[in-house]
Amino acid sequence: MGEVTASAPGKCILTGEHSVVYGLPALAVAIDMRAKATVKPYEKGKALIQAKQFNKKICLPLTADRNIIVESDLQPIYTSIINTLKLLRIKDGVEVLIDSSIPDASGLGSSAAVAVATVKAVSEFFGIHLKENEISSLSFESEKIVHGSPSGIDNTVSVYGGGILFRKGRIIKVKIPGNIPLIIGDTLKKRNTGGMVSRVRENYLKYTGIFKPILTAIGRISLQAKKFLEAADLSKLGELLNINQALLESLGVSTIELEKLVYAAREAGAYGAKLTGAGGGGCIVALAPSDISQNIASKISEAGGRAYITQITDIGVRIE
Ligand code: MEV
Repeated sequence: MGEVTASAPGKCILTGEHSVVYGLPALAVAIDMRAKATVKPYEKGKALIQAKQFNKKICLPLTADRNIIVESDLQPIYTSIINTLKLLRIKDGVEVLIDSSIPDASGLGSSAAVAVATVKAVSEFFGIHLKENEISSLSFESEKIVHGSPSGIDNTVSVYGGGILFRKGRIIKVKIPGNIPLIIGDTLKKRNTGGMVSRVRENYLKYTGIFKPILTAIGRISLQAKKFLEAADLSKLGELLNINQALLESLGVSTIELEKLVYAAREAGAYGAKLTGAGGGGCIVALAPSDISQNIASKISEAGGRAYITQITDIGVRIE
């Protein structure tokens, strides 16, 4: 047996994080940062996992309780291997090498992309072609172990690629009109999605009557944002990003570091900017005319962030 490599993209939520957990729509796109998983044969009953970006290598049993908790960085890889082999009723061992260009724990869907690429590479290594929805469900299982009670948006976008309006597991493909640069600003502060989702849940339970209309408004932003995105009306889409950011702040998930990057981008001429992902650290996304993207990236760096200019990609999970 030779080896098989699969890759899957990271994601950027344009609007609707957190409210999506409450069954409201969110708008997200796949971005051209990818996680790669390469699978090779290994000793029966064992998985050798190597994650280049964490500089980690570990050998784990495949016969253990499938919900076994390992180091959090390696959890999506391990759980995805176990669940895929279980579904395929395969007892052979595998070596899985992960190489990801998606910054981890920063809101860009790195754990989901790693899980999706792993499921695809492991199944194809044994000659099984899983359908996209099967890859997404298997990856969702590992997302639940990593993040608690996620909505499933990250694994969905990573599997299908492109733009997606996501609501309660239902997906509507969004037409992306040409090249739209997304400027990402990373605060370099790691954060924990499960923790941020729990924080919002606590506030929601405390102030339900106040939080419900905020979440509903964010859901409405996503429906409107889909229309502006499809019409390539980036200026209005940017305004919606700004409104969404204010509402996210009211949910308690923004931070001073995120706000600094948001304001740096806006002051440099972005149409709009907001945190993306769970908040509490991680990244912002800014929308701007292409000719000033580089300048916005520089201003983000001056404000203490690490900037990336990314593009939306239509390419979901695939074999390399
Ligand atoms: C995580 O990328 C976005 C959140 O809405 C959580 C989720 O949807 O699972 C904060």
